[in-house]
Amino acid sequence: MPDSITITDNRTGESVELPIVDGGVEATEWRKLLPNIWFYDEALMTTAMTQSAITYLDGDAGILRYRGYPIEQLAEQSTYLEVAYLLLHGELPTEAQYEAWTHDITYHTYIHENVRKRFLEGFHYDAHPMGMLVSAMAALSTFYPEAKEIFDQDIRQKQIVRLIAKMPTLAAACHRFSVGMPFVYPDNTLSFAENFLSMMNKVAEPHYQADPRLSRALDLLFILHADHEQNCGTTAMRTVGSAHADPYIAASAAAAALYGPRHGGANEQVIHMLNEIGSIDNVEAFVKSVKDGSGGRLQGFGHRVYKNYDPRAKIIKQTADDVFAITGKSPLLDIALKLEDIALSDEYFTSRKLYPNVDFYSGLIYQALGFPIEMFTVLFAIPRTAGWLAHWEEQLEQDAKIARPRQLYVGVPERSYTPIATR
Ligand code: CMC
Repeated sequence: MPDSITITDNRTGESVELPIVDGGVEATEWRKLLPNIWFYDEALMTTAMTQSAITYLDGDAGILRYRGYPIEQLAEQSTYLEVAYLLLHGELPTEAQYEAWTHDITYHTYIHENVRKRFLEGFHYDAHPMGMLVSAMAALSTFYPEAKEIFDQDIRQKQIVRLIAKMPTLAAACHRFSVGMPFVYPDNTLSFAENFLSMMNKVAEPHYQADPRLSRALDLLFILHADHEQNCGTTAMRTVGSAHADPYIAASAAAAALYGPRHGGANEQVIHMLNEIGSIDNVEAFVKSVKDGSGGRLQGFGHRVYKNYDPRAKIIKQTADDVFAITGKSPLLDIALKLEDIALSDEYFTSRKLYPNVDFYSGLIYQALGFPIEMFTVLFAIPRTAGWLAHWEEQLEQDAKIARPRQLYVGVPERSYTPIATR
């Protein structure tokens, strides 16, 4: 059996044979055969918009690898900053490279005072931190105008370091403002996750040191969220980046996409859903309402590409047990476990291959770590910044064309304008 497909233009009888490579076919040849014919592919469900060497995902087998390394090994042995380096550079750093990278990130954690005082503090007191964060990321573009020089390697690297380093500072500043607490400056003696926890939680103590087991749990969550190939946010990053916008603007577009409840906003929705269910006695009735359509979707379940258990959800579920051993068990955990149990043995969910995704258990850990619900998507955006930037840089190196899909026009045909008085 040849591993190819043949496309025949029945109008001319011409045909072209295309090899199937890695499960797909390249469009260049059929585009020549069929000029001005396009494929209608809603939401790009069967379109690969790019080639990428960053993350490998097999949704049927439940496999996720960054630069070839299985997510399970990275989660167990690596750190978020090492993973960020790996995503961006393609290789794990040597000791000297890791030390230099950590130093650079640590010393770019400060934000310009005006980002906070003139910009962030201008928001309404109850502004959602994710709305603030998306805006603040775009605002950084105005503080670093040289970021427009996207083809200058040194300038590009500097913005990458800046953005990864400043995300926790911006995130914590948004939170502190929204709860009326004073801003906490970064502490350069702390690790990436410890420093973030210090900026979030410090009150009057001269030095805030989080429980190392909890800061490790947060770092692990950062590793798991660092990249996920061509998801909605990363596609936004590549699309805006393809117009050669600077990385702050492109990353703010990616974060805006992430904010949506179908994407990174789902972790917030899971907690709302578990609270609404209220007790394990109500789980069966809730699942029934999801199935008959009256209860909305089961939040934290289902995925466009995973048709198996999301490997990140598996690791997060184990981590939840470790965190709860320190913080005490969340009363919502039993509801979540029963929900998973019932859903995974129900034909509605099994036939549609709906499994828990990364967001199903992550919110429970964030809550146990003391984060308010509004911060959950912000906690996703902090580490995903490394992935967004890796894709942005890869795209620049590929000299990618501007993203510009076709549309199937279904509106009215040409008609003549009628003056307002005669309508
Ligand atoms: N609960 C109940 N039914 C569902 C769910 C769900 N969570 N997800 C999908 N379905 C059903 C859907 O109704 C449809 O059924 P039918 O064929 O009878 O019409 C079928 O499964 C296929 O769903 P779809 O909407 O065509 O699938 P999709 O690939 O377009 O959507 C999704 C993927 C993630 C948007 C969707 O599964 C969903 O809304 N899940 C809940 C929100 C969520 O947890 N999002 C986080 C995703 S993972 C992290 C991230 O991306 O950031």
